[in-house]
Amino acid sequence: MSEHADGFAGGGAHGPARTAPLTPLLESCTVLANDMLAPGVALLRLAAARIAGAVRPGQFVHLALPALEAHPLRRPLSVFCADAESGSIELVCQAVGEGTRHLLAAAPQTTIDCIGPVGRGWSPPPAARRVLLVGGGIGAAPLYLLARELTTRVAHDSRVASEVHLVLGAQSARALVCKEAFARLLAPDALHVTTDDGSEGVKGLTTEFADWLLAQQCFDYVATCGPAPMMAAIARLAAQNNVACEVSLERRMACGIGACLSCNVDMRDGVRRACVDGPVFDAQEVSW
Ligand SMILES: Cc1cc2nc3c(=O)[nH]c(=O)nc-3n(C[C@H](O)[C@H](O)[C@H](O)COP(=O)(O)OP(=O)(O)OC[C@H]3O[C@@H](n4cnc5c(N)ncnc54)[C@H](O)[C@@H]3O)c2cc1C
Ligand code: FES
Repeated sequence: MSEHADGFAGGGAHGPARTAPLTPLLESCTVLANDMLAPGVALLRLAAARIAGAVRPGQFVHLALPALEAHPLRRPLSVFCADAESGSIELVCQAVGEGTRHLLAAAPQTTIDCIGPVGRGWSPPPAARRVLLVGGGIGAAPLYLLARELTTRVAHDSRVASEVHLVLGAQSARALVCKEAFARLLAPDALHVTTDDGSEGVKGLTTEFADWLLAQQCFDYVATCGPAPMMAAIARLAAQNNVACEVSLERRMACGIGACLSCNVDMRDGVRRACVDGPVFDAQEVSW
């Protein structure tokens, strides 16, 4: 493959309008650190100067599995954090199968071949002043860069997003793996934690808390990522409250560059490819 992955810019059979505008890079990345956040979940920090400089909130990287010839297919992981200055990116990886287990075991100095940044990320309305993010489990990962961008904009321009709230949910306190990072970014009263078992925050589901919050306060934009039923419920709540909503959808991916159609998403007006037309979609356009 050439330095720039091919087949990315065209819309193909699925319509060009929402296809990601950027051409992803192929970059050989070095593992700088690989730290366990919780059982089966790690924070991988990679030296990836060009991807770090180009990534937008909500985009992902498509990683080759180092020294695992039995699995030639890449694995998609959202870019959790990026620092263009140091040229590094961070990924939160949950072990669910052989590929992700292998990534959790990657030692510092291992080289991982990445295509990225891939996909169409979040696009909050430019004038959105009050934003609600809803993250379920590991699904909070692609929301961090969005939260960082919105809160940074607040600091520089009072005309744009004035308040960013996050409902962060997980099964239990141990599974709230991204909480500390968000806590450093958001006002304490804007970080709402829920756990299914009540071991931290409010006992209950993210959807129940988001329902309550949307009834208490006005928001201009909702962004959500997590289990599919959670996102469908948040999309319904946003529609009921007349709030623009985007969702980040997960699909199994093969090529990651729009060519194989293995990542199809059913939309109200046809089919889209999660890898290049998404993974972020307008919630009201998805055929739930
Ligand atoms: C755009 C995108 C962003 C993602 N971001 C993250 C992230 O930040 N952190 C993270 O931990 N995971 C993320 N994932 C999911 C991750 O890609 C899969 O868990 C991984 O590819 C599984 O590979 P494996 O070899 O370990 O598992 P496999 O052995 O291939 O599969 C194990 C199990 O996981 C399911 N699975 C595999 N791939 C997917 C998928 N893409 N979507 C849903 N279920 C899947 C399989 O059906 C099976 O039940 C993301 C997926 C997408 C599409
Ligand atoms: S993964 Fe091949 S088209 Fe999306």
